[in-house]
Amino acid sequence: MSGKKLAGQVALVTGGARGLGRGYALRLAGLGADVAILDRNLQAAEVYAFEREQRTAGTVTGEIEALGVRALGLQVDVTDRDAVERAVGEVADGLGRIDVAVCNAGGGTVAFADERAGAAPATGEPGPVDAGTTGTASDCPQDMLLRVLDINLMGCMYTCMAVAPHMKTQRSGKIVTVSSVAGVEGAAGYHPYGTAKAAIIHYTRALAQDLGPYGINVNCIAPGLIRTGRLGDQQERAKRVALRRTGTIEDCAKVVEFLATDLSDYVTGSTILVDGGMHR
Ligand SMILES: NC(=O)c1ccc[n+]([C@@H]2O[C@H](COP(=O)([O-])OP(=O)(O)OC[C@H]3O[C@@H](n4cnc5c(N)ncnc54)[C@H](O)[C@@H]3O)[C@@H](O)[C@H]2O)c1
Repeated sequence: MSGKKLAGQVALVTGGARGLGRGYALRLAGLGADVAILDRNLQAAEVYAFEREQRTAGTVTGEIEALGVRALGLQVDVTDRDAVERAVGEVADGLGRIDVAVCNAGGGTVAFADERAGAAPATGEPGPVDAGTTGTASDCPQDMLLRVLDINLMGCMYTCMAVAPHMKTQRSGKIVTVSSVAGVEGAAGYHPYGTAKAAIIHYTRALAQDLGPYGINVNCIAPGLIRTGRLGDQQERAKRVALRRTGTIEDCAKVVEFLATDLSDYVTGSTILVDGGMHR
């Protein structure tokens, strides 16, 4: 029997095929959990050189299995509520239970690099173009508005609503939602991403009240400027950060470990900024 903290538990990570989600998945697997990845593209780590070069196996599920636990990869778009419910059911059937859910899938874009026609994922790093969208609070293009709210807010809510019945039956569980520093501070321009991420903080509080009586903790992590392939190298913006550096995936994964384990047993409804003091 493994002495690891999450041995015998099952964790689910949306958007776990690359970037922060992959980091969370590997961290939870390292703690002994069996891990299911729900991602619209299970090969998403192919897209940016940053993640491609870090990989230790052909797929994230292969990387998870190499840590000695079971892995399940399901191709699912979290904006499709029925598909999310089916996928969560498959995880519960296949791995036996759901103890931890990290609702990480998201981003502030109309189309990721791997969705754009003509994108050439195998060569080089496209740069931080995936973060760039435009609009104002009084005039935001419809595709951007709906897409960004769907991926970030609705996808998070659909995932929470799909795992809740399983956790309620177990009378235990840890849900981690994902906001952003963009959800707690206003920006010069308007971006529906901030609105979606702010709503996730509110939803986290409401869900914590709803599920607390069942022994389920619901908390939120709000990263700042974290180096992923999608975001690119943001070093020049580190002067805005109190700690004078951008964050790493590990910086965030440590906080997810706190929120997914007994270390946070009496914490619920909270949002933890992991931004190096960027938000004042
Ligand atoms: N990188 C940062 O600095 C930063 C800062 C604040 C918040 N965040 C949040 O953290 C999360 C992860 O960010 P990242 O930088 O690792 O992004 P990323 O683009 O590298 O990874 C996102 C993953 O989610 C998947 N995904 C996207 N839309 C999906 C959908 N509709 N259904 C299923 N899977 C989907 C992608 O395929 C990808 O594997 C996002 O919610 C993002 O908003 C990131």
